Amino acid sequence: MIWKDEYKIGVELVDQQHKELFKRLGDFIQNVRSDKENKEKKEAVEKTLNFMGEYVSTHFDAEEELQKKYNYPDFENHHQIHEDFKEEVAEFQKEYKDNEYDEDFVMEFSGRLLTWLINHVASTDQDIGEHINAIREKEEETK
Ligand SMILES: [Fe+2]
Repeated sequence: MIWKDEYKIGVELVDQQHKELFKRLGDFIQNVRSDKENKEKKEAVEKTLNFMGEYVSTHFDAEEELQKKYNYPDFENHHQIHEDFKEEVAEFQKEYKDNEYDEDFVMEFSGRLLTWLINHVASTDQDIGEHINAIREKEEETK
């Protein structure tokens, strides 16, 4: 498992979704590295890709909803980062379809996705957690 508790941002829903993303991506990489038959790998890769494409969107939407709800000041910038990432995943899906099951290509790309996810969750998303939790604490105090 590549997930670490230090990646938590302190917002339950977001943390759960991040964990799921890490889990799927971890399974994905493990599958590509395994010595299963290519045909079997290919099916698993396709399944994960479809799931990831959808789940990434669902997750980004939920995360952005929260940012809006709490007037997160860096919303526009963060939204753009999400859009760029979605495009990258879509690009991968497309290229993957075009060049059949090319293991080097899949490995290289899944490595890139993982690096992106770790950097994003461990750094960029942390600011959202801080922002939201500061507001929540203030709300607690005035109760
Ligand atoms: Fe994010």
